[in-house]
Amino acid sequence: MHILIIGTGYVGLTTGVVFAYIGHEVTCLDTNREKIAQLQAGKAPFYEPHLDELLAQVGGRMRFVSSMEEADLAHTDVVFIAVGTPSLPDGNADLTYLRQAAESIAEAMDDHFLVIVNKSTVPIGSGNWVGTLIKDAYEKRNGKKVEGKFAVVSNPEFLRQGAALHDSLYPDRIVIGSENTHGVETLRELFKPILQQNFTPPAGLPRPEGLQEVPLLVCDLTSAEVIKYAANAFLALKISYINEIGHLAQKVGADATLIAKGIGLDSRIGERFLNPGIGWGGSCFGKDTAALVATAKDYNLAMPIVQAARDVNYHQRTWVVDALQDALKILKGKRVALLGFSFKPDTDDLRDAPSLDIARLLLQRGASVRAHDPVALENARRLYPDLGVRYCAQVDEALEDADAIVLVTEWPMYRELDWEHIKPVPLVDGRNFLDRERLSALGFRVIGVGR
Ligand code: UGA
Repeated sequence: MHILIIGTGYVGLTTGVVFAYIGHEVTCLDTNREKIAQLQAGKAPFYEPHLDELLAQVGGRMRFVSSMEEADLAHTDVVFIAVGTPSLPDGNADLTYLRQAAESIAEAMDDHFLVIVNKSTVPIGSGNWVGTLIKDAYEKRNGKKVEGKFAVVSNPEFLRQGAALHDSLYPDRIVIGSENTHGVETLRELFKPILQQNFTPPAGLPRPEGLQEVPLLVCDLTSAEVIKYAANAFLALKISYINEIGHLAQKVGADATLIAKGIGLDSRIGERFLNPGIGWGGSCFGKDTAALVATAKDYNLAMPIVQAARDVNYHQRTWVVDALQDALKILKGKRVALLGFSFKPDTDDLRDAPSLDIARLLLQRGASVRAHDPVALENARRLYPDLGVRYCAQVDEALEDADAIVLVTEWPMYRELDWEHIKPVPLVDGRNFLDRERLSALGFRVIGVGR
C-alpha cells in the first residue's frame, strides 16, 4: 500500500520505517525542511536505538518531502497524522498542527477514497473534529459534497521512546477505532504482517519468544481515543502509587522495591511500572494526565485519582532535593553532580525531564550543579543554555570535588563507573539502580527511593 505520514517525530518516523520494513511504500511529510534534509541524508533527527540502521535498510521504500504537492496524495491509500499535540498552559492539548494537517489533506484530496488515521495523541473527540475540518475545507474548495470519499480512523500509539522500534514491531495490541468498515479493513490489511508476526525480524531486534500473533481490538473512534489516555494514565498512576507506598516504607523501615516485587507477583497487579524512583518524565505521561483532567473538567467531572498521581509524581522531584538537604544540612555553596539528564535511558529527550526541576531547585537553594549524560547534553546545551548547570561531556568532570551525587537517569554506564576512585559522598540513587551494598561498603551514604 501507499502510505503518507504527516509528522516525523518519534511516532511518525517509527511508524513509517516499520511500514516500509514490512513492505509498504511510505512517504513522510514534515514542514520542517531541516529535518527533511537530514532524513534525506539518511540520519534520524533524534536518538533512538536501531533507527538509523533500519532507515538505511528500507532505502527506496521510504521518501521524505516537505510539502503536500510533493507527497502525491492522488496515489496514497492511507494518511497517518502523527503531528505533535503539546500541552497548553491550562493542560489542554494544542491542536494547531493537527488542524494544519487536516486542512492540508482537504486541500489536496481528489475523488479517490482516503483513509485518514489519527496516530497523534489527540483529545477525546478529535477524530470527529478532524472529519469536520476536512469536510468543511473540501466542500468549500470544491463546491460539492465530500460524502463517501474518506474515513477518519483512530489508531493510538503505545510505543516507548528508547524501545520505539521493538514496540512497533512487536506491540502488545493494535487498536483501531472507527465506525467505517472500509477504514477498518484497510488498516487490518496494512497491519497484517505485524498482526500475524510473519516477517523476518530486523538485525538487533529479535522477536520476543513465544510471540505468534498480536491482538487487534476494533472499536468505535471515541473509545480508541480514550484507550490511549486511559492506558498512559494507568501506567502513570502505577508509578505514583509505588512512590507513595515508598514514602510510607521509608517511615516504617520497609523496602519499596521488595514491596513492589511482592505485590507485582500477583498477576492481577503485574511487576512492570512499579519501580520506585524520582517519578515519570517525558513527553507523554505529564501531558496526557493533564489533558485527561482538563477534558473531564469540560464535562464538570473531577478525576481525583489521576490528579493525585500527578501531585505525587511532581513531589518526587522536591523530595530528592530535600533528601540531599537532610544529608548535607546546607546546600548553599555545595557542588552536586547529576548523573543522567534525559528523562529515561536510551533517549536524548529532555521533555519534562526530572533532571531539569531537580537542577532548578538545587540552584535556587544555592548549590552549584554539574551534569553528565551520554547523549542528551547536546540538547541540553541547545535548549537550556541559561539554566545555570555546567554540562560535562566527561563523567569525571561532573564528579570532580562533588559534595553529593544524584543518579537521575539509569544509564547502564553509571553502574560501571570506577566507584573505588570516586570520593564517597551522600548519593541519592533516584532509580534504585546502583549496587547499594558495594557503594555503602566503599563509604557512600546511599539514599534510595522508598527504602
Ligand atoms: C509512554 C508509554 O509507556 C507508552 O506506551 C506510550 O506510547 C508513550 O508514553 C506515549 O504516549 O507516547 P515513554 O514516555 O516513552 O512511553 O516512556 P516509559 O518507558 O513509559 O517511561 C515514562 C517515564 O516513567 C520515564 O521517566 C520512566 O523513568 C518512568 N518510570 C517508568 C518510572 O519512574 N518507574 C517505572 O516503573 C517505569
